[in-house]
Amino acid sequence: MGSGFFVTVEGLDGSGKSTQVSLLSEALRADGQLVTVVRDPGTTELGERVRRLLLNPGIGAPVNRWAETCLFLAARAQLFHQVIQPALELGHTVLSDRYLDSTLAYQGARGISWKPLLELHRLCGLDRFPDLTLYLDIPVDRAQRRRSATIPDRLEAEAVPYHETVRSGYLELARRFPARVTVVPAEGRAEELAGEIRALVWERMAEGRAI
Ligand code: TYD
Repeated sequence: MGSGFFVTVEGLDGSGKSTQVSLLSEALRADGQLVTVVRDPGTTELGERVRRLLLNPGIGAPVNRWAETCLFLAARAQLFHQVIQPALELGHTVLSDRYLDSTLAYQGARGISWKPLLELHRLCGLDRFPDLTLYLDIPVDRAQRRRSATIPDRLEAEAVPYHETVRSGYLELARRFPARVTVVPAEGRAEELAGEIRALVWERMAEGRAI
């Protein structure tokens, strides 16, 4: 598989993830690296359509958790095979706003265990895991205050206990996969956080890939 470095950024809605993805991509480009930035679900035509479908609060009957999972996986399979894998093969640093850990945390919080979720990834050819996953950790009430100005999408509209379970899931992922998932406390100022993230990414790139 290609020689590029694959970084994913994870967190609750309102954790400041997208800002950090954009600051990190600027820093990597300023360093002279070739960078491909993607968002999951999204980036591809298919993925953006699936994203609109999944986030629309007016979708009708409650979405079955397996239907939800398979739609996220469909978007990810398209994203990986169409964009991420070719970019890694060209030696790009790939930066993804969310990736498989979102499924493990959010669909895991629907009561689906990680084993079948990981197996689904394998079946879809998605067993190239990120080299580094930065989980931006922030308490649920803080995250909700940060995004209170926007109209909640279908997932954001879930009740607080759901988001608490998502957060616990992320923290558990960091314990389970310590070589890959790093918890970054994310309550501070965006610029300071960006500096910490740059240091983590540079350090890990120097060490080479995690297993
Ligand atoms: P997000 O990417 O954070 O976009 P925005 O910043 O526009 O809100 O939103 C995507 C939502 O989808 C978020 O609530 C998390 C959820 N999600 C899952 O439930 N499972 C997944 O596998 C992924 C990638 C996202």
